[in-house]
Amino acid sequence: NGHNGNSRGALIVLEGLDRSGKTSQSSRLLPYLEGLGLSVELWRFPDRNTYVGEMISSYLANKSQLDDRTIHLLFSANRWEKRSLMETKLRSGTTLIVDRYSYSGVAFSSAKGLDIEWCKVKTCLSCYKHEISFVQAPEMGLLAPDLVVYLDIPPEKAAERGGYGGERYEQLEFQRKVAEHYKILHDTTWKGHCVDAPLEHATGRPDTVDGLIPSHPACYTIKVFPPFF
Ligand code: TMP
Repeated sequence: NGHNGNSRGALIVLEGLDRSGKTSQSSRLLPYLEGLGLSVELWRFPDRNTYVGEMISSYLANKSQLDDRTIHLLFSANRWEKRSLMETKLRSGTTLIVDRYSYSGVAFSSAKGLDIEWCKVKTCLSCYKHEISFVQAPEMGLLAPDLVVYLDIPPEKAAERGGYGGERYEQLEFQRKVAEHYKILHDTTWKGHCVDAPLEHATGRPDTVDGLIPSHPACYTIKVFPPFF
């Protein structure tokens, strides 16, 4: 209950390929949660309204070139620059629905095939407790989500939906690789973490995913996975 002043809000993350329906789902989830009496805000990463966000936006529009590691760190920096506001909001009882977060950071950068010193996701996630990859390291210390919902859509189906907008990563071949890396994250993220508990604690509703569109004509399955950091 976000209104009694004692409970914090929940951090709910939506992840998926480009054109997987995150925007539709967030705009559906927002009124659903508001209907439960919660104070809710929609956020998204990258947040293009900051200086770092402008650099990211220009890179995505192919208007600038950046080294793969540089853009990886800019995406992460873009989350860091919003961290304290995020914490303030959550502590004041506002639930945040966030369109993309660290999982996008890891899945997209590792799909680019950064060299092994930077991209040891397979190795590192399979032995998560012992080793953190360089791709994940910049994410450590960001706020862990209460719930991460992955909208699992075949890359071909996503590509069919109204076409891609022409940004750098919106290509079928690349999206296939991203899907593989999301799958690795999903299959290897620390198991045994109870995703419902913190959400229930925060909102009193363990079944918040009910607010999503379960059988949206887009033929995806909704998977829920826990934070890796
Ligand atoms: P958007 O279309 O959701 O605004 O995201 C822009 C692109 O940036 C999208 O192709 C996913 C990608 N991305 C990353 O590569 N790393 C990240 O950390 C984030 C948040 C997005």
